[in-house]
Amino acid sequence: MNYNFNKIINRLHTNSSKWDTTENGVLPMWVADMDFKAATPIIDSILFRALHGVFGYTMIPKEYYDAEIYWWKKRHNIKIKKEWIEPTVGVIPSLSASVQAFCNKGDKVLIQSPVYNYFNSSITNNKCELISNNLIYEKEKYHIDFVDFEEKVKDEKVKLFILCNPHNPVGRVWSKEELTEMGELCLKYNVIVISDEIHRDLVFSDSKYTPMASINDRFLQNTITCTSPSKTFNLAGLKTSNIIVANQEYKGKINRSLNINESIEPNVFGIEALISAYMRSEDWLDELLIYLENNRDYLMEYIGQNIPELKVIKSEATYLMWIDCSALKIESEALVEQIRQIGKLRIASGTTYGENAKEFIRINIACPMDTLKDGLNRLYNSIDTIKCKKEL
Ligand SMILES: Cc1ncc(COP(=O)(O)O)c(C=O)c1O
Repeated sequence: MNYNFNKIINRLHTNSSKWDTTENGVLPMWVADMDFKAATPIIDSILFRALHGVFGYTMIPKEYYDAEIYWWKKRHNIKIKKEWIEPTVGVIPSLSASVQAFCNKGDKVLIQSPVYNYFNSSITNNKCELISNNLIYEKEKYHIDFVDFEEKVKDEKVKLFILCNPHNPVGRVWSKEELTEMGELCLKYNVIVISDEIHRDLVFSDSKYTPMASINDRFLQNTITCTSPSKTFNLAGLKTSNIIVANQEYKGKINRSLNINESIEPNVFGIEALISAYMRSEDWLDELLIYLENNRDYLMEYIGQNIPELKVIKSEATYLMWIDCSALKIESEALVEQIRQIGKLRIASGTTYGENAKEFIRINIACPMDTLKDGLNRLYNSIDTIKCKKEL
């Protein structure tokens, strides 16, 4: 092991959204970034660029595109072309630009709730209507209701389907069969697929990720894939991501939309970071994945043994653990508030991700093992106190 993920790094007073918006003494395990230091080549390349001292308007060099192409091939065995890459300043801006590019006011966009909450705002902020093919939760696992999917997608007003693969928060890595069924239905009813694959690199050893666009040529032409090194390499603050779109007509529309919003200028450090991440930091990711998988297994075992009222959904990817709290019979907003007050632990409420997740919580485990243990003790103490109060 070259990297020490056990090291606790104090992130207070670094303008961290996760830490510096959380009250003193409360442990934050909510928003999706990691408490780990980035890979050494990334830090070195940023320092080297910083030493130059001039940070004017910046263009995207050939090495940036080469790095994106290299990573797809090396890590996922997929060949992409330079002309398919549209650099952007984040996946959420990419989703918003796509909604603007392909929808008119009043059009509908399909999502699969519960899902990452900014999908909603990218749709409703653009005066479009959100409809959901709600995921089905059964026996501690999630799957897709394809009958309902077809019912929803056949509506002529539906122009886009925003897919999350791997899925935040339910942790599913959709199988090739599931993706094929969704992709075929979208083609049948002329609905474009926006596939948010930001978590593609954070897949655990027992699962296999398939990019929607890789399944066949027809899907390739109908899919807009959003990626970023931000989740994989913990670079969210650098605001650098890419849209991969083979269909050049779609690409032109998205490019126009990004330009209208003036959200196309790259970040000087983001460029350096992406190149170093994809070209020189794979060993960091390999070590990270082992660490995260161990954290996942530890959490599952701990909760299984000590807090049996909670049911952890075994995540196939992401460092976000999705937990069924229905046995407690407390609505999740109220539950996370009580956990924050009693146990001094800040986690995310299921309702953030959809009305059909009122009995769930989400915990971020991308932290050193000692921090995870601390968080789990806090969770245990909170649930114990909540149970005692209920019994009184
Ligand atoms: C599925 C998904 N998409 C997008 C984002 C955010 O992407 P960005 O920071 O590049 O806008 C997140 C962050 O958690 C996410 O989980």
